[in-house]
Amino acid sequence: MKWKDQIHNLQAYQPGKSIDEVKNAQLNPIIKLASNENPYGYSSNVDEVLKQYDHFNFSLYPDASAAKLRESVSSLLGVNKKQLIFTNGTDELIQIISRALLEHGKNTVMATPTFSQYKHNAIIEGGEVREVPLKNGKHDLNQMLAEIDINTAVVWICNPNNPTGTYIPNNQLLSFLKNTPKDVLIVLDEAYIEYVNQSYHSLDFIKDFPNLLIMRTFSKIYGLASFRIGYGISSEAIIQKLEPLRLPFNTNVLGQTAAAAAVKDQEFVQKCQKRNAEEREKYYTFCLENQLEYFPSETNFILIDFKCDSDEVTKFLLSKGLIVRSGRLLGFPTCVRITIGLKEQNEKVRTAIKEFIHEGS
Ligand SMILES: Cc1ncc(COP(=O)(O)O)c(C=O)c1O
Repeated sequence: MKWKDQIHNLQAYQPGKSIDEVKNAQLNPIIKLASNENPYGYSSNVDEVLKQYDHFNFSLYPDASAAKLRESVSSLLGVNKKQLIFTNGTDELIQIISRALLEHGKNTVMATPTFSQYKHNAIIEGGEVREVPLKNGKHDLNQMLAEIDINTAVVWICNPNNPTGTYIPNNQLLSFLKNTPKDVLIVLDEAYIEYVNQSYHSLDFIKDFPNLLIMRTFSKIYGLASFRIGYGISSEAIIQKLEPLRLPFNTNVLGQTAAAAAVKDQEFVQKCQKRNAEEREKYYTFCLENQLEYFPSETNFILIDFKCDSDEVTKFLLSKGLIVRSGRLLGFPTCVRITIGLKEQNEKVRTAIKEFIHEGS
């Protein structure tokens, strides 16, 4: 086989463990807090519209242009419909962008550690990956600018960043945008933006920076991860270039319908944001009381430093039926990333962590 050289050492994406994988009679219930899904589920609007789908003809292809969903998102955000691209999760959008812009001789700049798929797709396309270490868990924007040269095609900014949860305020972002050459695509991954407590105006920047693309998803606060719907917002010119790389029927009919219904319930989104922030505060207090360092987070997860092998902590929590994410594969080998769950779930996690600390000392 004549495989591309660059794919030889690639590993398949390793997701957090599923509930089925760890199910056994002794562990009940099993609580999954490893992939930053929404523990509050999704809007009741979604159930309503999906009920009406029992008469739908599933033998037909879905609407290739996702027209109804496009309409809903365009009116929610106040952007033109031609400024949107819908994809099979933002994972697919990352793939499309990488295919469109990266190859041997081109490079891409990103933070490290950050969301793994930027690097993964860049490697597949043969692009050079320039990684800039985070500073105290935050993007080092000055150093990222310094890495940009004439061959840079894409810069990735994960805001808030996964796995640290840290957020870049608007003024710093704006200065980065101003200093980035106009022929470099700046991708702002806002998978967790709805959780941010501060006001954010990144959409306003699209007018002035046609080389900016914002990625958002229905997998996090909207609670629709299994439907695989993500989208990009950019200038019409960028969207037009990316559209031909999208698979013809990349988003399925149930996903389009569920997402369009979810957009119409912003009250649900606000409720989840508020509850998440309250629960996150409890983790902060807990960490302070137990001398655990953590990264202040603007997301629905928290990265806690246990100052020991993170696999030991995750194994211990798993023995209590709690699935969390070891920092080993996320670039923080002594940390554990925990999705902020429901009140009782978080209490169980904190009790188990206390036991871990107690048993270890
Ligand atoms: C920062 C970030 N970007 C993108 C994704 C992919 O999300 P989607 O479900 O839309 O593919 C994730 C998923 O965890 C993420 O954390």
